[in-house]
Amino acid sequence: MTLLELEDVTAFYESVQVLDGVSLSVPDQGAVGILGANGAGKTTTLRAISGTVRTGGRIVFDGKDIRGMRPDQVAALGIAHVPEGRGTLGDLTVRDNLRVGAYLRKDRKAVDTDIEYCLDLFPNLQDRITSNASALSGGEQQMLAVARGIMSKPRLLLLDEASLGLAPSTARNVYDAIHRLRTESGIAMLVVEQNANLAFTLVDSATVLETGRNVLTGTSAELRGMDEIRRAYLGG
Ligand SMILES: Nc1ncnc2c1ncn2[C@@H]1O[C@H](COP(=O)(O)OP(=O)(O)O)[C@@H](O)[C@H]1O
Ligand SMILES: [Mg+2]
Repeated sequence: MTLLELEDVTAFYESVQVLDGVSLSVPDQGAVGILGANGAGKTTTLRAISGTVRTGGRIVFDGKDIRGMRPDQVAALGIAHVPEGRGTLGDLTVRDNLRVGAYLRKDRKAVDTDIEYCLDLFPNLQDRITSNASALSGGEQQMLAVARGIMSKPRLLLLDEASLGLAPSTARNVYDAIHRLRTESGIAMLVVEQNANLAFTLVDSATVLETGRNVLTGTSAELRGMDEIRRAYLGG
């Protein structure tokens, strides 16, 4: 079953059009990548889904047309957006950041269990549980941002450049944990990455954007084998 479908989506900042007909679909429990150079429209595609930019076209989640909904309405349907730049709350502790992630939930008892799960997934956070988010390293902040997304118990996680600015081994750790999350939870994922090699360890398929349009879509294996992908995104 398809969980999320974008059909010919356009997006605008004021009167400037930056998406020019983006289409993609994420299967239930699937993981799909969005690749592309800086400025291609990857972040804007995630914003179009979470309702933070003006859009046209069709955006259907779980059979419901969500285009034009407010960000809080989209979140309430089960879509968690882990934004570029992480967006953790610096003045709050790690534990309070995780609690904030769960603020829409009614199942308060399960929230504590899920905090424990996040700390098992990201043991670094366990060690920093009473630290303010602003005191964490870049890698720890990224782990916290993902964990906060998980705390809303989403059906779909939108992940924007989770590896940005991290040392390669830290980026690997983050992606390994997200891979484990995918296997254990079945949360569907739409993953924006400039590091295509890393993305391919997690996603089953991907689409490549260029100036707000899809230029290539395929399975991870297909894309990995293409010369133009290797040259542009895999360092040779
Ligand atoms: N808030 C904004 N206001 C105006 N233009 C923007 C804004 N954010 C992004 N853009 C422009 O939209 C285009 C797509 O940006 P973005 O979606 O951030 O690309 P990517 O995430 O692939 O690097 C770029 O040309 C960028 O300069
Ligand atoms: Mg971006």
